[in-house]
Amino acid sequence: MAVHTRREGTTGFVELDAPPVNAIGGDIRKGLLAAVDWAEAEGLDRVILSGRGRMFSAGADIRAFGAPMTEPYLPDVLNRIERSTVPWIAAAHGAALGGGLELMLACRYRIAAPGTRLGLPEVAIGVISGAGGTQRLPRLIGLNKALDLIPAGRSVTAEAAQAIGLIDEVDGDPVAFAELTNAEWLGMKVPVSELNSGELSPEVFEAARRATGQAMPGQTAPQRAIDLIEASQHMPFDDGLIQERAAFLDLSQSAQSRALRHVFFAERAARMPERLAETPRPALERVTVIGTGPVGTGMAFALLMAGLPVTLVSTGADMPCSGRTGLDRHFGHALERGLLTPDTADARRAALTFAEDVAGVAPAGLVLDTSHGSTEEKASALAALQGGLSADAVLATTTALSEIDRLALALPEPSCLIGLHLPDVAGERGLAELLPGAATSDAAIARAFDLAQKVGRVPVLAGASRGSIGQRLLARYAEAAETVLMDGSTPWEVDEAMVAFGFAMGPFEAEDITGLDLAHAERRRQDATRDPNRRYIPIADRMVDLGKLGRKTGAGWYRYPGGGGKVDDPIVADLALEEARYAGVERCDYTAVEIRHRLLLALINEAAEILHEGLAASATDIDLVSVFGLGFPRWRGGLMHYAETLGPTKVLDGLRELSAEDPVAWRPGALIEACAAGGVTFADWRR
Ligand code: COA
Repeated sequence: MAVHTRREGTTGFVELDAPPVNAIGGDIRKGLLAAVDWAEAEGLDRVILSGRGRMFSAGADIRAFGAPMTEPYLPDVLNRIERSTVPWIAAAHGAALGGGLELMLACRYRIAAPGTRLGLPEVAIGVISGAGGTQRLPRLIGLNKALDLIPAGRSVTAEAAQAIGLIDEVDGDPVAFAELTNAEWLGMKVPVSELNSGELSPEVFEAARRATGQAMPGQTAPQRAIDLIEASQHMPFDDGLIQERAAFLDLSQSAQSRALRHVFFAERAARMPERLAETPRPALERVTVIGTGPVGTGMAFALLMAGLPVTLVSTGADMPCSGRTGLDRHFGHALERGLLTPDTADARRAALTFAEDVAGVAPAGLVLDTSHGSTEEKASALAALQGGLSADAVLATTTALSEIDRLALALPEPSCLIGLHLPDVAGERGLAELLPGAATSDAAIARAFDLAQKVGRVPVLAGASRGSIGQRLLARYAEAAETVLMDGSTPWEVDEAMVAFGFAMGPFEAEDITGLDLAHAERRRQDATRDPNRRYIPIADRMVDLGKLGRKTGAGWYRYPGGGGKVDDPIVADLALEEARYAGVERCDYTAVEIRHRLLLALINEAAEILHEGLAASATDIDLVSVFGLGFPRWRGGLMHYAETLGPTKVLDGLRELSAEDPVAWRPGALIEACAAGGVTFADWRR
């Protein structure tokens, strides 16, 4: 049974019971409706509604989206609760999100345990609330606060919710508190739908639309949410509910919602395979991080936040003090954003040790090497490092493409070595791509999964010994972008075209952050095996020769005067022109659509190759890598999900057309050919 009822005296207790998160499906809706009838028939003076397990409710059952809706519908159930002759009290703990919060809004009184998260996060899966959220919330907390919460899908803690009037009380035992409320007073409380949301000028809503459009470009649901909040100020509640429901049904069928739901479930399914989870291994207790660049300091901070002691070791190549400065910056941001209290920050800092050398550092079960250098330099550094570690200590290294086996050759214990690719994408959780070598043991892979889980990154296991999915995609993306640059566009035009598609940033700006020297080193590693017939774009090499390595040198594809925002650099355009003239290229003026077409097809073709080779286990893994590691728009569902919306035949046609100008770079991958010929989707293709 998904809803339990019992009575004690004149109080009815109704409990939701649909593990793991009390998602609201047909059984809960039916159970709630029956509970309203039951409470009225029993002549109770109150009903206390709570959830069993770890939370009140995570909202409507997302798995049922797309399937035909069945009666009773949630808005009707909630209206029935709100209009019942027996007042309902919501007593929440853990989380009350989406439909869970809407359920609370239909109750007369709302109590939550400390720390409970409350919000309407539906925009994150491409919809809006479908059971009165956009109509009741503004009536309860006012239009301004509703505008702050709903379009961004922001949730708040119980304490913050009480401060804005979203709930009435915060108490460690919400059910016991509800039992003590005065029945007469409870009966006089006005239902939320009868409150007035106040009024704001149209300009305020326009400003909200603009700000939301900038923060969540391309996304439809947040804009629809603003329309509905605006409607709540004049429209009778029942009419607003009808409009909201229509918008919800419409959005839940949309491509954006399908894409966002795909990423939602893919993100949750990305976890350690059972075979590895059972591998005996010690818990992660202390980590040594080598290298104080952005990856090293970022990982050290994330590990400290996860409560682990960390030793951060600088290398000869690191800038003096960069470790301390980097960590100060991380702690400063976390304090500013209220993610840490000053006391917790002090405690976390106390678990951090800086060292200039690994010799003498306290032994750790996992050493994360983020230093840069040639394969030879890295190999000898890792070999020396492993000499000082315990036999089962894992050595994880942020290695470049397909290098892991070469590094392993130099080690006394190659089974303990694993590669990691740890890119960050603004606004996303970040990715931990696990790159085992041929000799890497299951225990080492499992501990790399443990590491990813500790720091909250999405783990993706790349096919054994074949390098990184993310780095392969990045290399092809950069190659396509630089080809377009040589053949007629500027970095600015290319970046704008990709941002307009929904990327967090364009390829040139992103490379200015990671550093042009890294890609350069990788190109040198590939020199020996590169197809001599493949067109080589030398502009990036020229940039490196000029010392333009990106933000860290003040200039890369862009200039950053005074360390500020990017500005176009005419030198880059000159280099492109010069190289094009030298190579006899007739330059042209690509439109944004043409730029996107080329860069996306290049990415899709590479991704299909990666899948075909078995480097990625599934199209979904490529989606995760592209969203969490490349900044591909989540609301397009990831690279392969997007490719699926085009269809293999259209992808193939596009590639064939481009291969007329360059048959090597644009040769369609075997998987695309096979899917197009067999009428198979990329997701269904099996090796
Ligand atoms: N409907 C269906 N399943 C849901 C769900 C929902 N609304 N919310 C969570 N789940 C499932 C997850 O898919 C996961 O399933 P799995 O174990 O088979 O992978 C399980 O519940 C646990 O969720 P998870 O996200 O791993 O737990 P968490 O403790 O990290 O986070 C929440 C819990 C509630 C914060 C998070 O799941 C969440 O944000 N859910 C969506 C909330 C939402 O958008 N509600 C509005 C729906 S319209």
